Amino acid sequence: MHAHHSPLAAAPSGALRGTALVPGDKSISHRALLLGSVAVGRTRITGLLAGEDVLRTAAACKALGAGVARGADGAWTVDGVGVGGLAEPAEVLDMGNSGTAARLLLGLVATHDLTACMTGDASLVRRPMGRVIEPLERMGARFTARSGGRLPLAVVGAKAPLPIEYRLPVASAQVKSAVLLAGLNAPGTTAVIEPEPTRDHSETMLRHFGATVTVEPLERGRRIALMGQPELAARDVDVPRDPSSAAFPMVAALLLPGSRVRLPGVGINPLRAGLLTTLQEMGADLAFENRREQGGEPVADLVARASRLAGVEVPAERAPTMIDEYPVLAVAAACARGRTVMRGLVELKVKESNRLAAIAAGLAANGVTVELGEDSLMVEGTGAPPPGGGTVATHMDHRIAMAFLVLGLAARRAVTVDDGTMIDTSFPGFAALMNGLGARIAGPLLKKAAPRPAAKKRAQPQRGKRRGRGPAPSGSARGGRRGRKPKRGRR
Ligand code: S3P
Repeated sequence: MHAHHSPLAAAPSGALRGTALVPGDKSISHRALLLGSVAVGRTRITGLLAGEDVLRTAAACKALGAGVARGADGAWTVDGVGVGGLAEPAEVLDMGNSGTAARLLLGLVATHDLTACMTGDASLVRRPMGRVIEPLERMGARFTARSGGRLPLAVVGAKAPLPIEYRLPVASAQVKSAVLLAGLNAPGTTAVIEPEPTRDHSETMLRHFGATVTVEPLERGRRIALMGQPELAARDVDVPRDPSSAAFPMVAALLLPGSRVRLPGVGINPLRAGLLTTLQEMGADLAFENRREQGGEPVADLVARASRLAGVEVPAERAPTMIDEYPVLAVAAACARGRTVMRGLVELKVKESNRLAAIAAGLAANGVTVELGEDSLMVEGTGAPPPGGGTVATHMDHRIAMAFLVLGLAARRAVTVDDGTMIDTSFPGFAALMNGLGARIAGPLLKKAAPRPAAKKRAQPQRGKRRGRGPAPSGSARGGRRGRKPKRGRR
């Protein structure tokens, strides 16, 4: 399993107040690096998420011959090699914890005349890669993978790539993106039919770099077609802040009486916004201010105020638009009045952990009534703070860790997560940001950054060597905090 477990605990907290600058969008960050690598010229990326997952993609792009560098101002540059120009990597590509990095990169290299080996951490080597291997083989690539189509694997890219038309058997933006990225170096039109629309960041960014992408609505879903072998031109990318990361301080603010948290510049792409819809149906007081566009993506400043939530039914069709948000939604449901039923969750079983099982076990360990179905989850809330007091197994899953830390803030007794290290994959500085708003999260990792009411430093990300994004640093919080005084060294 994971070598360096480092537990974190969240204690019942008072109101959260202030402004939370959450890090850049993970999905968009991966795509900016990948497309910058096959564009001609220098791409400049601001707001890139400098989390472990994205750093893996950056390292892989470098290993494939692109020039990737981070400037002193926090902006990144990518010197691209042009479509078809990637070079054979000398080392094994280690994608760490990141399924997105692994699957998108396999797509990109599958239509290059090169051989590459790929692996990942103990979580990633358990996750299915067959879902990308299958279409990429149809395009001419050859794979030798572990049983069940798992990492580590070797891919021999196609010498003469074939464009395909592919109907997605699972609602997966990763599979769609892998096929489209492979299609970049295939002659003719590569098309993907998705019965249920999934996040469209790849389509948007492909167009941003100059590719021709058409989207045709179908009776059910849509058909996305890419013209192969375009000349992609380097472009600047300004990455919006990640709605999936914003979800944690946002839900915490909804749950803690007296809270008001502002989350500027968060992506509100409708294909990512299922949680916002669901929380509003539950009675959440969420405001959207300054709606605007950033690099082709809709963004807004979100304001979350403490609210009384009620249980709802979350339809299966909504799942692709909030697939990463079920852990924190389940925590909100545990604090709401009444029953919340979430359906269509089969994909949750193959995320960084079996999230369906991990959510149910974590809630049960904290005195919440849950019922686990084949692909559904029922959570029964009383409208009062749940008991808490439990320890949650995170199974190397960053979102399980963050979701249950939010539960600890809202519960009657503290909640401990067995390992907080994975949080850095998507949200470096999470605990410091939350504590800057008034949360009480503590653990060995945070010793140095233990929150002190008067210290300005408390709002900074815990890892001193991380540099922010200039005037608006990633993973930081600022603003007036009211709430209980954090107790130091409680655990
Ligand atoms: C992602 C797509 C989703 C999501 C993941 C990021 C992406 O996975 O869970 O965190 O960036 O394309 P699937 O497309 O496999 O559902």
